[in-house]
Amino acid sequence: NRRDRIRNFSIIAHIDHGKSTLADRILEKTSALTSREMQDQMLDAMDLERERGITIKLNAVQLLYKAEDGEEYIFHLIDTPGHVDFAYEVSRSLAACEGALLIVDAAQGIEAQTLANVYLALDNDLEILPVINKIDLPSAEPDRVRKEVEDVIGLPGEDCIPASAKAGIGIDEILEAVVKKVPAPSGDPEAPLKAMIFDSLYDPYRGVIVYIRIMEGTVKPGEKVKMMANGKQFEVQEIGVFTPKPVPKEELTVGDVGYMIASIKNVGDSQVGDTVTHAAKPTAEPMPGYRKLNPMVFCGLYPVDTNNYTDLREALEKLELNDSSLQFEAETSQALGFGFRCGFLGLLHMEIIQERIEREFGIDLITTAPSVIYEVTKTDGEVIEIDNPSEMPDAQQVDHVREPYVKAEVMVPNEYVGPVMELCQRKRGDYLDMKYLDENRVNIVYEIPLSEIVYDFFDALKSNTKGYASFDYELIGYKESNLVKMDILLNGEKVDALSIIVHRDSAYDRGKIIAEKLKNLIPRQQFEVPVQASIGQKIIARSTIKAMRKNVLAKCYGGDISRKRKLLEKQKEGKKRMKSVGNVEVPQEAFMSVLSMD
Ligand code: GTP
Repeated sequence: NRRDRIRNFSIIAHIDHGKSTLADRILEKTSALTSREMQDQMLDAMDLERERGITIKLNAVQLLYKAEDGEEYIFHLIDTPGHVDFAYEVSRSLAACEGALLIVDAAQGIEAQTLANVYLALDNDLEILPVINKIDLPSAEPDRVRKEVEDVIGLPGEDCIPASAKAGIGIDEILEAVVKKVPAPSGDPEAPLKAMIFDSLYDPYRGVIVYIRIMEGTVKPGEKVKMMANGKQFEVQEIGVFTPKPVPKEELTVGDVGYMIASIKNVGDSQVGDTVTHAAKPTAEPMPGYRKLNPMVFCGLYPVDTNNYTDLREALEKLELNDSSLQFEAETSQALGFGFRCGFLGLLHMEIIQERIEREFGIDLITTAPSVIYEVTKTDGEVIEIDNPSEMPDAQQVDHVREPYVKAEVMVPNEYVGPVMELCQRKRGDYLDMKYLDENRVNIVYEIPLSEIVYDFFDALKSNTKGYASFDYELIGYKESNLVKMDILLNGEKVDALSIIVHRDSAYDRGKIIAEKLKNLIPRQQFEVPVQASIGQKIIARSTIKAMRKNVLAKCYGGDISRKRKLLEKQKEGKKRMKSVGNVEVPQEAFMSVLSMD
């Protein structure tokens, strides 16, 4: 039976523990293509991914493996993104598998994302095969890591496969373990169709390409299928598998992992986690676990040059085709003019989109400080959700405000416990738990407001621990906090794009820091500019940007012409990211500065 020879699995790992390198090794052993050809063709398809060294899009390849028992096995290796912003996608791609290779770096041991990924794999009932990678490193401590796997994850230490993806050690053992330990898929090929979507992407020629795993039933070209989340129907034009080239097939059946093309125009109609079934004979129940992805982080995106507004809209529309978790709507700011309020899954997602707009579409952007969604209960009982601080009602209309909290897990060597706890405390964290992973590594758990994570938590953590900490978080819900809106006034005028929501206890300090920061960031103008921070009508901090003393050019009047040109060029450079707010020129950094603490 063909199905007994199918193995569906992914590789899960903390960043940099060697997932891509191991995937390459597996490809080399199981297909005719070299990893270089393979890479050219697909894995990490987007330039941006490669440059940043992270995987954003999921992919699935079919590989053939001749095992020691003489049988040829069909492997589907499903790639998962490695960042907390994409936890839901990871969980859905794991739901398409029966097993996962868990890579742990032999020198680093278990890290925050190792654990987060293990939880996701366990949620999906996967067989977990632990691999201790990088045993070639002089600093490798496979025995310590083996014990960690046993103590922290609860998998038998003797099951760990020692390996080096780089030196090609242990690869055969890994492939044999996949054959022997990962269960073959089960399901009824005659049952009504149940195919889970674990990724999709937009192709300008073919429309949406949907990545599916068949859980029950069989699908063929020409059939009418239905998306269970929204009931929309499509006719299947083509189905197939990636080898990694797309290879059309006559059918996909139970256990198969492949693609479907069905004249779908909008990735929004092929949501990750949704179930595809036959329109005529639908399955009774969709796959469990589907949820619509809601953005958690919002910011305003404005073109530096107002003439680029339409271009920006087109860029966002194009990006949305391929990214159903990106949200945007038109927004007007008194300070910045016409732009868009955009929603993202997290900070990394936000940075990627901003970078693509600037790089691929050539539009210079002003971005406002990221915000979370606040739930505001007004004194008249009405509850509103705001994702833009400037929309916060006046204090006397606000009864109370709730904000999203995350459970954050930080893993660090002993000696950094102090600095990490200090940081979490400063970020308004509530201590939950602390556990020793071994003699010198600790897992610290805090509940922290998402808004405090959103800005510089990662950076602060890194610098407080010399880069030794690893970090993961998940949203746990909303809690009431004593929050107020702080406005910033330049030259007496409120700048809506600079408003932020802060905790009342830190409002004075924050106001002072921001006023000082803006004073240094905003270049001198022809006139004196007061910078003020206010809560309601009350000014809580103030600084002054002194007037420019001399015209820069006056200095070299009559002087060397090339020097004059250089000066002008320099000024132009500096101007690129300036936005006139009222009659004050404000640089991009100013809009982000309102969130930093120091
Ligand atoms: P992300 O894609 O960022 O999640 O990282 P990854 O887990 O895919 O790690 P990747 O395969 O890119 O490897 C990270 C670094 O570790 C690279 O510099 C690799 O060359 C190196 N590396 C991977 N496997 C080994 C190994 O077995 N031994 C040694 N010494 N280095 C390795």
